[in-house]
Amino acid sequence: MKELRVGIAGLGRLGRVHAANLAHKIPGAVLTAACVPGADSQAYARQELGLEKVYGDFREMVADPELDAVAIVSPSGEHCWQIEAALDAGKHVFSEKPLGVTMEQCLQAEAAVARHPELVCMLGFMRRYDKSYAYAKEKIAAGAIGTPYLVKSTGIDPEAVVEGAIRYSGTSGGIFLDSAIHDMDLMRWFLGSEAAEVYAMGCTFKHPAFQDAGDDETGVAVYKFKNGAMGMVHVGRTAPYGYHIETEIVGTEGTIRISAVPEKNRAMVYDVNGARTECVESFPERFAEAYLTEMEEFVRCVREGRKPDTGVADGIYATRVGYATTEAWKTGKIVKI
Ligand SMILES: NC(=O)c1ccc[n+]([C@@H]2O[C@H](COP(=O)([O-])OP(=O)(O)OC[C@H]3O[C@@H](n4cnc5c(N)ncnc54)[C@H](O)[C@@H]3O)[C@@H](O)[C@H]2O)c1
Repeated sequence: MKELRVGIAGLGRLGRVHAANLAHKIPGAVLTAACVPGADSQAYARQELGLEKVYGDFREMVADPELDAVAIVSPSGEHCWQIEAALDAGKHVFSEKPLGVTMEQCLQAEAAVARHPELVCMLGFMRRYDKSYAYAKEKIAAGAIGTPYLVKSTGIDPEAVVEGAIRYSGTSGGIFLDSAIHDMDLMRWFLGSEAAEVYAMGCTFKHPAFQDAGDDETGVAVYKFKNGAMGMVHVGRTAPYGYHIETEIVGTEGTIRISAVPEKNRAMVYDVNGARTECVESFPERFAEAYLTEMEEFVRCVREGRKPDTGVADGIYATRVGYATTEAWKTGKIVKI
């Protein structure tokens, strides 16, 4: 097959990562267009990415007959209608998570995918493509820890970017929908079962602005799964040491722990503070390789006529669990999913 010509929607924090990968690092793909509002971002597309086709209107971009696929990295509320418009225009779709911000939007995207079985639609649950997570999954499948019965998942954003999180907190849907979507997906993936009920709570000890906006700076949720297994999620916004992502899967015969210390690399720094490894600072740093691997997989799926492992059904499941968790947090009750 000829090279896949991809257009990107959104050139923010993550859009620029995907754009750079598509432009320079992925065999079989070429970045040919971008859609983004704002003169600065459009200038970035022309000057930094060398693109001639730069749009402010998504429908105009997907009407381009020379385009084969789109990567949607726009704000979450835009994903579903853009997925639908792209599929209806005959383009393959990679969309960032979350699938949508309401169940109605998610079902709209699901219907569009059902109308176009000939097209690939992949959702960006990139942690599944991270080497350590993929390795853990392989070990579990090979029986290394027996039957997995508990997943403990931690995701704390760096305090260094807390101002942005505060600004966004009134419209983000709350800490669980905003921060725990990957954990919802991973728990199900590792346990091989879906969440049946959830109890959740939140607290705010450092930045009252989160509560002023109806949010919390830290959230904890516990889940019971249909097969009897358990899950525990801890999300937050105030890690003073960097970006803390950690997952532990406990089974009848052992445990696998991913990033118990969120190390930057293998270097040990000896200084006035002692001997220590430094921590990763941000999601683009921690998951740089996973973002590349998932996009390579998207391009391979299109070229080989395969369906990817992460699609709208996974997005709908994670969003449903996210809503149930938010309801449990807001009401203080156990919520059936
Ligand atoms: N997989 C992950 O780990 C991960 C990490 C961060 C963000 N995300 C997701 O990626 C998406 C983008 O996040 P971000 O942090 O890059 O956001 P951002 O706010 O930094 O960037 C959003 C970009 O989209 C553009 N935009 C706004 N409306 C648009 C439209 N209608 N069409 C096209 N572009 C539009 C903005 O101008 C901006 O360039 C969000 O859905 C977010 O949840 C996923």
